[in-house]
Amino acid sequence: MELPFAESYKIKMVENIRKSTGEEREQWIKTAKYNLFNLRSDQVFIDLLTDSGTGAMSDKQWSELMLGDESYAGASSYFKMKNAIQEILGFEYFLPTHQGRAAENVLFSALIKEGDIVPGNSHFDTTKGHIEYRRAKAVDCTIGEAFDTTVYHPFKGNLDLVKLKTVLKKYPAEQIPLIVVTVTCNSSGGQPVSMQNLKEVYEMAKKYGIRVIFDSARFAENAYFIKMREPGYAEKTIKEIVLEMFSYADGMTMSSKKDAIVNMGGFIALRDENLWKKASTFNIMFEGYITYGGMSGRDMNALAQGLYEGTEFDYLDTRIKQVAYLGQRLKDFGVPVQEPFGGHAIFVDAKRFLPGFPKEQFPAQTLAIELYLEAGVRSVEIGAILADRDPVTRENRYPDLEFLRLAIPRRTYTNNHMEYVAVALGNVYQRRNTILNGVKIVSEAPIMRHFTVELERINTMV
Ligand code: F0G
Repeated sequence: MELPFAESYKIKMVENIRKSTGEEREQWIKTAKYNLFNLRSDQVFIDLLTDSGTGAMSDKQWSELMLGDESYAGASSYFKMKNAIQEILGFEYFLPTHQGRAAENVLFSALIKEGDIVPGNSHFDTTKGHIEYRRAKAVDCTIGEAFDTTVYHPFKGNLDLVKLKTVLKKYPAEQIPLIVVTVTCNSSGGQPVSMQNLKEVYEMAKKYGIRVIFDSARFAENAYFIKMREPGYAEKTIKEIVLEMFSYADGMTMSSKKDAIVNMGGFIALRDENLWKKASTFNIMFEGYITYGGMSGRDMNALAQGLYEGTEFDYLDTRIKQVAYLGQRLKDFGVPVQEPFGGHAIFVDAKRFLPGFPKEQFPAQTLAIELYLEAGVRSVEIGAILADRDPVTRENRYPDLEFLRLAIPRRTYTNNHMEYVAVALGNVYQRRNTILNGVKIVSEAPIMRHFTVELERINTMV
């Protein structure tokens, strides 16, 4: 018999979680203004809000905490991180930052000015926020297949080279400070970018004299998909694939809370010494001195160790197979999801889940509320609330894809938890015809409203 799949780790420490009653959840979600970010974590049984900073560190990472060097300047922890970045990602220069959006803030301060154009593949919301805050424009060049959840494409994170070329031809190079390639592409469903596409984008960028920066939060998951899906890579190690991926980038921003499996941390890595020097000034202003940039020495140590572990095949195989397990169980119940399954999350297609539901009533957010009420599972809307308003017209933006995201923390939950989530959402799917009314916005921030928005349920009787 073929041996079944099993996790590549065992558990040394546990954290209790608690179930609640339906009545309790009704009250809590109302008090939270129907925004799941406002829930207390002890009001949640299984927390799939995000895979960011929510993973379990290994025994080796915890050991590294004890070895942290907390010197202000030139700490050994800085050099440990520098070596890991050089060895695994191939970049000579780097700046630590406290998380991914801080890396964006520092790098974009050095690169982006008002009126600039930044093409990319469905920029993540903080990336877009940092671009638009500088009165520049993010142009989405993702391939069309990504926007149809019923179509199979092995690399739905790919950039459409025709769309990209149109942008590069339309604007002068001085107006395009960078192309952002997000690996994997979170906004389109945790979808990977193929090696061939990375190479072609880089070659095109070089032809036009433009730099390519990878938004690298889930670079290792991207490498896993290349190994499993792209011809010619099956025999290569993840570490070999990662090095080749980054050979097609001039630099990267990193949210280490994902594929470096730490609870906090980030960095910028670059090849260009001059750009590194320019960014260093902003790092000192916004984050901290260039050898710690908002991180403690112990956290830099854990991050360095996490980069080695996060690029091990067995770990990635366990991780991606767990996500796929949830995806498959949801499919078994008929729940419409983005396919192929993403690396870090299952993205439920809210438009297909609730056909005909008015987009102005935020179907994915409505589903997030229903799933919470059903079973205490916290998920997140990746739809119109997140897409925010157009910075110029102030009109609501309704993206092609309206997703409910179930993001899986790394090494945290078992497949029994996945089963629980699948049945919970399966139950919501069974009673989908009774979900007639959604929510309306009562109060929102002028930018990045997603996190703090206050909502009200629309009354059926009105
Ligand atoms: N880029 C991508 C692709 C991301 O997914 C995130 C964060 C960031 C940048 C920003 O990094 O959170 O460390 O400041 N994504 C989280 C999520 C928040 O839930 O998907 P950060």
